[in-house]
Amino acid sequence: MLELNKLYNLDCLPAMVEFPDKFFDLALVDPDYGIGNTWNKSRKDRFFKMRDCTYKNNEIPSRKYFEELFRVSENQIIFGGNYFTEFLRPTNSWIIWDKERDAGKTYMSEVELAWTSFKKVMRIVHIQWDGAKKGKETGIKKIHPFQKPIKLYKWILARYAKPSMKIIDTHVGSGSSIISFLDFGCDWIGFEIDEYFYKGVTKRIENHKLQLRIK
Ligand SMILES: C[S@@+](CC[C@H](N)C(=O)[O-])C[C@H]1O[C@@H](n2cnc3c(N)ncnc32)[C@H](O)[C@@H]1O
Repeated sequence: MLELNKLYNLDCLPAMVEFPDKFFDLALVDPDYGIGNTWNKSRKDRFFKMRDCTYKNNEIPSRKYFEELFRVSENQIIFGGNYFTEFLRPTNSWIIWDKERDAGKTYMSEVELAWTSFKKVMRIVHIQWDGAKKGKETGIKKIHPFQKPIKLYKWILARYAKPSMKIIDTHVGSGSSIISFLDFGCDWIGFEIDEYFYKGVTKRIENHKLQLRIK
């Protein structure tokens, strides 16, 4: 079985197969939404010029992915759940992330949704995040077109997890989840299939650990 507290440059599906039923307390995931290179719409976005990134975001995960995710984890929080409704049961326990954008004046979504398996009420979290800009989370370099703020992951962990838990992120992207796991103190495992992002996250984790040592 793969070691915990590590990031792997692997396809998450065959990797999940290795784990026993309900091994993880929580799956906190953000799979591809299958909406294509939407970030290319913005000429201001530096990803428009990015050469080494071959990321396409053209397909959503398979039924098998969701079967494995539900098998290996006790509870799940799935960003972009609105793209995967064919695989998710109806629930009132969604999380709505309000990005505090200039309402009505942006071509980008003002909120994002996360489906959860919890029996809780629907919650709204207000954390400013403006695409290519960094919102209030200053000093954070953007390395992924769908990068989410660390603050958002921290908000979720504080309400839906405990430091004693084992947490899996199958689609790590920029690694904001991993930085939050490190600060939270839980056991974790992360998968990122794209080498470009994997290398970026590895650097981000190293820098974060260095900062923690300096403090
Ligand atoms: C929506 S992004 C995640 C963004 C992330 N939440 C963040 O804050 O940066 C999805 C990521 O999943 C990765 N991915 C796609 N299929 C995968 C797979 N089968 N296994 C592991 N990673 C995968 C993509 O390369 C992409 O970086």
